[in-house]
Amino acid sequence: MKKILITGGAGYIGSHTAVALVNSGYEPVIIDNFSNSEKSTVAGLNKICGREISCYEVDCLDRSAVERVFLDNDFSGVIHFAAFKAVGESTRLPLKYYSNNIDSLLILLETMSKFGVKDIVFSSSCTVYGQPEILPVKESTPRQLAESPYGNTKKICEDILVDYIKSGADSRIVSLRYFNPVGAHPSGEIGELPLGVPNNLVPFITQTGAGLRKKLTVFGDKYNTPDGTCVRDYIHVMDLAEAHVKSLEYLFQQKNNFYDLFNVGTGNGNTVLEVIKTFEKVSGQPLNYEIGLRREGDIEKVWADTEKINNVLGWEAKYSLEDSLRDSWNWQLKLGKK
Ligand code: UFG
Repeated sequence: MKKILITGGAGYIGSHTAVALVNSGYEPVIIDNFSNSEKSTVAGLNKICGREISCYEVDCLDRSAVERVFLDNDFSGVIHFAAFKAVGESTRLPLKYYSNNIDSLLILLETMSKFGVKDIVFSSSCTVYGQPEILPVKESTPRQLAESPYGNTKKICEDILVDYIKSGADSRIVSLRYFNPVGAHPSGEIGELPLGVPNNLVPFITQTGAGLRKKLTVFGDKYNTPDGTCVRDYIHVMDLAEAHVKSLEYLFQQKNNFYDLFNVGTGNGNTVLEVIKTFEKVSGQPLNYEIGLRREGDIEKVWADTEKINNVLGWEAKYSLEDSLRDSWNWQLKLGKK
């Protein structure tokens, strides 16, 4: 069985990707420093997979610890999720974000080269597009100045990967630009575990639905969109996870020295009010919300052109927004109500 290293594998997207890898006959090996994840996620993962998934408590900045994991395992590929991701915090602590997110990629690439591991899938974000002029947004759309240090780390990491391949490196790389991941594994064993007050819409909605938060504030309703609230492309985390498996299998077929990138979204945009209405439908209860001020730095509307990933990887999103919110709600019920 091919072993795949997942950095940040105890996190939200990483843990779901571990399940997708097992379902496709791979053996995931996780490294995570648990700075923004919980050991209970690994327990949930083991339950879903019906066996113990190998997991090392290792910080990706600890080069010798990372090397020891490579010494222990013969990896066929790597999926690199480990990174800090809070947009607001990154504007307050930019150096923390630059050093962690960039150095971990460099250490990983150097270690892969040392051990002859060629294939890596990198977690990027649709944040690199800023507010695109033409929608849906294609991979060929020029990237814009990053809105935050977090977003800039994604751009810089993409650039590092491109330069690395340009230098003739014996490596094969895919960057995936995620749109908005939502949902949870349908079993309810794993899902998103936001620390403190959630920044993202869906965990805020489910926590409000569960009575843990009083009300949701919708950040502005005077945007140039069908109902005035912002539009995003919400993708079920299991669909997103599957895109990583497809990306790895695509890399395995390429010649050495290869780079490609893909949008990973559903191809549909939904407004904040549509997400709220869909949540009310699947949970069977009204959501307490009010319209508030715009959030600084918010993009008005963005959704993915998925033609490239549909055609080249043969991947498309299978879950609907309703499925996503049902699974998010199911996960919230498991985490608990007030
Ligand atoms: N929103 C609310 N109220 C809330 C939270 C969010 O109305 O309490 C709205 C936002 O204004 C936005 C939408 O819900 O219109 C989605 O907001 P999220 O914070 O869930 O997601 P974003 O698209 O703003 O941010 C996501 C990722 C970031 C990434 C960014 C750009 O969380 O990591 O996309 O790619 F940088």
